[in-house]
Amino acid sequence: MRKPLMAGNWKMNKTAGEAVSMLKALKPEVADVNDVEILLCPVFTALYAANEEIKGSNINLGAQNLFWQPKGAFTGEISPSMVKDVGCSYVIIGHSERRQYFGETDETVNKKVIAAFAAGLIPVACVGETLKEREENVTFEVIEKQIRGGLAGLNAEQASSLVIAYEPVWAIGTGKTATPAQAQEVHAFIRKLYSEIYKDAADKVRILYGGSVNPQNVSELMKQDDIDGGLVGGASLEADSFAKLVKYAK
Ligand code: 13P
Repeated sequence: MRKPLMAGNWKMNKTAGEAVSMLKALKPEVADVNDVEILLCPVFTALYAANEEIKGSNINLGAQNLFWQPKGAFTGEISPSMVKDVGCSYVIIGHSERRQYFGETDETVNKKVIAAFAAGLIPVACVGETLKEREENVTFEVIEKQIRGGLAGLNAEQASSLVIAYEPVWAIGTGKTATPAQAQEVHAFIRKLYSEIYKDAADKVRILYGGSVNPQNVSELMKQDDIDGGLVGGASLEADSFAKLVKYAK
C-alpha cells in the first residue's frame, strides 16, 4: 500500500519567522496523524529555522530546488548535500514555474533527480501540460516526454521511492482544478508508462496531484485510485487549511 503524502509548496512566501509561526500552529493540529505523511517545503532561507521547529514532530521538510553539482563556483546555487544537511528529506524538482521562468528542461530535471538521490534526498519530480498543450490534445505526449527524459536512469529502489507530482499548468494558482476524473486519467497514464520503464516500481511510486487543491476538493481527488496525495501551493500557507488537507479523510 502506498502511504498518502500531503505536501505543501510554499513557493516564494514566508520569512523564517513566518515559517516558524505557521509550523508552531500546525504541529498540534496534525500531531495525531500517522496514516498520512506530511511535508512542507519552505524557501531556502527558512529551512534552518523550520527544521529546528519541526524536530520531534511528524512533519517532514523539503526544499524547492537544488543544483546538481556538489560544490564550487556556482554563485547563488545550493548543493544536494547542503539541502540534506539543513534537515530536508525531500526536494521538489522541475516545478512548472522553474521550467517556465528559469529555463529548466527535462535534462536539467534528470541531473537534479539523480543528484538528489545520491545525497539521500527523495525527489518530488513535477510534470504537467500547459493549457495550450491540453487544448491541442498533446497532454499524454508531453507527460511521456517529461517522464522518459526527466526520470531516466534510476535504479529499482530509487524508482520506487521517487515521488511524481502531476500539476497541470492551467490549474496552478488559477482556482481551476482538474476534475477528479481528469486528474485520475493522467495519473493512471503515468503509472502505466512508469510500469513500462520501471516495472514493479509503478505500484510503489507515489503520484501527487497539484493545482488549486483546497479543503473543499481534496477528498474527491484523494478517492481516485492513482492519486496518492497532493502538492499544494496557496492552501498550504495557513495552518488551518493545511491541517484540513492533511486530515482529508476525517
Ligand atoms: P496552487 O495550489 O496554489 O494552485 O499551486 C499548486 C502548485 O504549484 C504546487 O506546487
